[in-house]
Amino acid sequence: MEGMDHSNMSGKNMETMNGHESHTNPLALNHSTGENELALPPLLEAKDGIFTITAQQGTSEIFKGINTETYGYNGSYLGPVIKINEGQKVTFKTNNQLSEPTTFHWHGVDIPGEGDGGPHHLLQPGDTKNVKFTVKQGASTLWFHPHPVGATAEQVYKGLAGLIYVEDEHSKKLGLPSEYGVNDFPLVFQDRKFDDNKQLNFKAAMNEDGTIGDTLLINGTVNPKLTVGKEKVRLRLLNGSNARNYTFKLNTGDSFQQIATDGGFLNKPISMNELSLTPGERAEIIIDFSKYNKSTDISLMNEEDIKLMPFNIVDKKSETSSDSLKNLNNYVVTDEERKLPVSKKLELFGMGKMVTINNKQFDMNRIDFTQKQGETEIWEIYNKPDMMGGMTHPFHIHGTQFKILSIDGKEPPTNEYGWKDTVAIDAGETVRLAVKFNNKGIYMFHCHILEHEENGMMGQVKVE
Ligand code: C2O
Ligand code: CU
Ligand code: CU
Repeated sequence: MEGMDHSNMSGKNMETMNGHESHTNPLALNHSTGENELALPPLLEAKDGIFTITAQQGTSEIFKGINTETYGYNGSYLGPVIKINEGQKVTFKTNNQLSEPTTFHWHGVDIPGEGDGGPHHLLQPGDTKNVKFTVKQGASTLWFHPHPVGATAEQVYKGLAGLIYVEDEHSKKLGLPSEYGVNDFPLVFQDRKFDDNKQLNFKAAMNEDGTIGDTLLINGTVNPKLTVGKEKVRLRLLNGSNARNYTFKLNTGDSFQQIATDGGFLNKPISMNELSLTPGERAEIIIDFSKYNKSTDISLMNEEDIKLMPFNIVDKKSETSSDSLKNLNNYVVTDEERKLPVSKKLELFGMGKMVTINNKQFDMNRIDFTQKQGETEIWEIYNKPDMMGGMTHPFHIHGTQFKILSIDGKEPPTNEYGWKDTVAIDAGETVRLAVKFNNKGIYMFHCHILEHEENGMMGQVKVE
């Protein structure tokens, strides 16, 4: 994404800064304290389509010998990878074992409004709710997290987030690396700030423009390393941070292939040297380790040239490793869609507690837009700069996967020519989306900097 600056500004620094200068809060990784093999979330599969998902509190040994109080789904930190199939009838038996209300939101899932798990669907402590729907979307890497008004940012920060893998018949025939934990790995990126007792004190760390931490966790692991074979390896990346943006690259400068966006495969692999993800966004990439040796120093880095995760290459090869990657999808933006007039205009504006959409802050009792089920509408979203320049807002819509028609009137980059549910909109930019809801209900749209969402940068569309 050339010319795009995805670094956030923190409110604190904004007060002392004038002009449009991006402030970065570097990650302070300390690989000298030893590397830990990357944790893998448990895979949750169910032939009968019935999944039990419990939000609970617990302690996690993130640092050796120290118990950190955390939240998790079916465990003490993060959640399982829920594996579902296109066409499958599924039931998510959700259960709140926290001592505070929560919701279960399925980010990126094409789901009827009553099951979406937005702020209207609060579960009190001890409550359970069965969410039933038929999977109507193709292979993709989606995720889930809580969404209660006033506590979303804190609950996610404490560890509530999990992945959903959708599989379909087509994806099984592509020969993509797909052995979970062997040549197909999830990577959930989260930055956290630990206090002197190595606890997650959200109130102390909180920033109104997005809480930024100096410690990176990948799948809940500090200082992770990943052992891979001399073969093609698929990485499913989720920016699960409250606010930090990442631009991923390899320390060797080598390219990798991006094969999927938020909501499914790209039509064909796109060769990339770096890849940016704002909070909420996902991407799948393939790195070909067959061209390296065991002794190759290769790691995933970010835009600050900080080593996020070294790869440890061993001599093994999985059976499923593939050689050719082609025709992954048949995504297309049609002429009809390009000709549609803009029917919804949104203006994102402000900083900190003063963030708004169309000059309004979120109100549970106000419906901001309506839209007809199954009808495509063009949403035009403008990120209005302020005197300080402004900042990037990752804009997300519930219950749908949309198409990016244009960014400032131009075609989106080729690696965004695919299904999306979250789009990074830089200050001053205007983005046009083709949006269609397949189900009825009330859906949220919001900035996915979780503190902005909490501060009211959110609205509701009623699909009828
Ligand atoms: Cu990730 Cu309102 O959602
Ligand atoms: Cu969502
Ligand atoms: Cu924002």
